[in-house]
Amino acid sequence: MSDINRRFFLRVTGAGLAAGAVPGALKASTNPELYLPNKGDCIAISSGNGVEAVARARKLVMEENMRPVSAAVRGVAIVEADPNDLSVGYGGLPNELGVVQLDSACMDGPTHNAGSVASMEDIMHPAQVAELVMDHTDHVNLVGPGARQFALDYGFKAENLLTDRAREIWLKWRSKRSDDDRLWPLGDTVPADPALADEPRPWGTIHCSVLAPDGNLGCCTTTSGLAFKIPGRIGDSPLIGCGLYCDNGVGSAGATGRGEAAILSGGSWLIVERMRAGDTPEEACLFALRRVAEQAERSAKWQPALWKDGSPNFGLTFYAVRKDGLYGSANMRGSAWFAIADEKGARKEACAVAFK
Ligand code: GLY
Repeated sequence: MSDINRRFFLRVTGAGLAAGAVPGALKASTNPELYLPNKGDCIAISSGNGVEAVARARKLVMEENMRPVSAAVRGVAIVEADPNDLSVGYGGLPNELGVVQLDSACMDGPTHNAGSVASMEDIMHPAQVAELVMDHTDHVNLVGPGARQFALDYGFKAENLLTDRAREIWLKWRSKRSDDDRLWPLGDTVPADPALADEPRPWGTIHCSVLAPDGNLGCCTTTSGLAFKIPGRIGDSPLIGCGLYCDNGVGSAGATGRGEAAILSGGSWLIVERMRAGDTPEEACLFALRRVAEQAERSAKWQPALWKDGSPNFGLTFYAVRKDGLYGSANMRGSAWFAIADEKGARKEACAVAFK
C-alpha cells in the first residue's frame, strides 16, 4: 500500500475518537492513527469450512441488525451442529480417552468484552455458551465441569457429541498407539511413524470475524481442538488474543490450526496490532506466521515440527478484517482457502502463503 493510501485509510475520524473516549481516563496512546474510518459494508470472514457460516452471519447483520459478535456466534452454529466436520462441535474428534471436549470464545468490539468456555463436554454450541459468559457474568473464562454446569443452568441440553464416525477414527488411532509419544509429534502433517503416513492427525476449528456497516466488530472461534489431545488440553480457540481478538477501532482476527503456535505467539492480538500500525490484513497475517516460524525455530520441542530448512511443518492459518473493510488471510504452508461474505455474496478465496 502506498504511503498516501495508508494515510487515507488511517486518517482519524472525529467520531471514532469520540466513541472510544473514556471521560477522565488517561489517553492510552498519543498515536493519532488509532482509529480507522469505516466504509459501510458488512464483511464476514471465516476459515474455509465456514461459507454457510459467513453467509448466515452477514444476513443476520444486514436483515436483523444483529450485533457482529452474535451474528458470528450464530453463523458458526451451523458448523458446530454439522456431524461431518471433524474439528468442531458435534462430530468433532475426541480426546485420547474418546471424550469430545470443546473450546470456544467470542469477543464484542464495541464493549471490548469477551467470554469463553474450554474443555467443555456434552454441549453442542460452546460459542453460544461463551456469549452468555460474556453477557451475563463478569468473568471471561469458564473451564470444564463449571462451564458445562453454567450451560445447563442456562437451558442447554447435555447430549452425546461423539458420532459413530468420530468414534471409529478414534478407535483406529488408539489401535495404532504405542508408548512412543512422538508417534504423532508436533509436526503432525507428517507422522513420524510411516504406518500412519496416510493419516495425518486432523485438526480444524472455525473462526469467524464480522464487520457491520456501522463499523462495529465482533468475532468468535469454536473447536473440538487437537484430535486425541490429552484430556484437559486447551488450545488457542478459547484464549483471547490467541485464537481470536478484536479491537473496535482497528479490526478483528482469528486463527485455526496448531493452537499451541497461536498461543505462544499471541497471534490474533499481534495481527490486530499490526493492522493498527498500518498493515493490511494479509500483511498482518503473514507477519504473525513468520513470527511463529521464528519462535518455533528456537525451541527444541518444536524441532520435529520443522522442515529440514527450519520452516514450520504444521498447519496454522490466520484470518483478519480491518475496520475499513479490507480483509485477508494467510496460511503457514501450501494452499488453503478462507470463506468471505460481502456485497458480492459468500464464497471461498485463496489464502496467502507464508512458506511455499
Ligand atoms: N486451533 C485449535 C486447537 O489447536 O485447539
